[in-house]
Amino acid sequence: MPLRICFIASEVAPLAKTGGLADVAGALTKYLHASGHDIRLFMPLYRQVDRRALTLHPVDFLRDVPLQLGPHRLNFSVYATTLPGTGATVYLVDAPALYDRDRLYGSAPDEHLRFALLTHAALQSCQRMAFAPQILHCNDWHTGLGPLLLRSFYAWDRLFHDTRSLMSIHNIAYQGVFGAGALADVGLAGQEHRIEPGDLGAGRINPLREGIRHADHISTVSPTYAREIQTPEYGYGLDGNLRARSRDITGILNGVDYEEWDPRSDRHLPQHYNANQLGTKAELKQDFMQRLGLATQARNRSPLIGMVSRLASQKGLELLFDALPRLLAERDFCMAILGSGDERYEQFLTRLAHEHPTRLSFRQGYSEEHAHWIEAASDMFLMPSLYEPCGLNQMYSLRYGTIPIVRRTGGLADSVQHFNPETRQGTGVVFEHFDVGAVLWGVGQAIEWHANRGLWRRLVQNAMAQDFSWKKQVGEYIALYERLL
Ligand code: ADP
Ligand code: GLC
Repeated sequence: MPLRICFIASEVAPLAKTGGLADVAGALTKYLHASGHDIRLFMPLYRQVDRRALTLHPVDFLRDVPLQLGPHRLNFSVYATTLPGTGATVYLVDAPALYDRDRLYGSAPDEHLRFALLTHAALQSCQRMAFAPQILHCNDWHTGLGPLLLRSFYAWDRLFHDTRSLMSIHNIAYQGVFGAGALADVGLAGQEHRIEPGDLGAGRINPLREGIRHADHISTVSPTYAREIQTPEYGYGLDGNLRARSRDITGILNGVDYEEWDPRSDRHLPQHYNANQLGTKAELKQDFMQRLGLATQARNRSPLIGMVSRLASQKGLELLFDALPRLLAERDFCMAILGSGDERYEQFLTRLAHEHPTRLSFRQGYSEEHAHWIEAASDMFLMPSLYEPCGLNQMYSLRYGTIPIVRRTGGLADSVQHFNPETRQGTGVVFEHFDVGAVLWGVGQAIEWHANRGLWRRLVQNAMAQDFSWKKQVGEYIALYERLL
């Protein structure tokens, strides 16, 4: 039986993306649609969405819909388009006063309002389209109020009587906290009794916490992270709420969209390769290093280590302040890094690239193409994350025969298996501790294995044989939805 799903996300690839949430929202929609389900995906029509590349159809009954949220008289319209490369429909919520901004996310005082509007717009669109979702699937803090709104603001509407809500946590550290004085702003005036008393007492509202408290079920993006977030170390203050609902939490590892990320067909690459054509991978590496001004001649045998990342403390960049200069002094390798984010990391990497122009390339910014090149051309890929709900790049890396060097946490622990040279089993380098010594050890280990051609070849073959396709993972979501009904 096809399921009716209302899916709300603050970013969706390829329309607007800052990180993995967009990849997941896009891919999950694509594969749920391909499995025959009626999935309606809602996201903001940000300035960053390339309207010229899309055909936008205004939706009847969804033009200039008035919405009164507390003192705010808002207005939204909805445009339908097809998610590129799929047959699935995306509904873009247009509210220029809220979404026509320099960045997808900001720190303006109306941030809570921007995503409350998105959530209301999705639910009101369901009403006006007479679409009775069986599942309301909310993602991260932005749409965390969805389950509570369903029980309060929309409780009168029989359309939603059979709707079950799922709160997916992609990153628990971002919670979207705002002042309790703004409760009316999000459509929850008079609903104080349903809000976590501790938060209310402290004068704040935590949308992610409310999502966890009010959803019928909670999911997160790897089994290990599902356990970790129930501990104080990883729960960022929400572990108590999660432990209270531990029977209602499921960890489902994200998948990879191999139509986008596969060296056999990657549209960003001039040449393609599979596990038996590693010579081509080596040629791509040469090309790429030359273009980046990295020393290919003397270092033709030495490994290239890649990194593509939001430059946030979550990603373990702290450790690189000490680790990278030492590694550069002691080991033979080059490095290609792509990312943007916190200024102190950007400055550090810029300086390091300046000091070692033929060894380390740092490209600051966002580039889909450069990200694909790093995955294809590198021998290794470094992810020393402090925490990692799932992580996608390690799974992309495996497919490209680019050996992940990761910390054993979250989805990294669930997708990379430490290589054992004796049994020749395993797919990468996995280290335990969040400290500089562990990074030195991990990178050193990879470099030593790389020097042994036969061993390395086996490791690469193991990696490339892994399958994390969405085709498989989407079945887990369908099973979960069905269990909820
Ligand atoms: P997170 O969502 O925490 O940032 P993930 O590993 O789940 O981490 O997903 C990150 C996604 O964003 C990957 O698809 C990665 O390639 C992409 N990405 C991150 N930074 C950049 C960048 N600067 N340029 C291009 N793609 C990037
Ligand atoms: C988050 C996490 C990342 C995860 C992504 C998609 O941004 O940081 O680990 O892969 O969401 O679920």
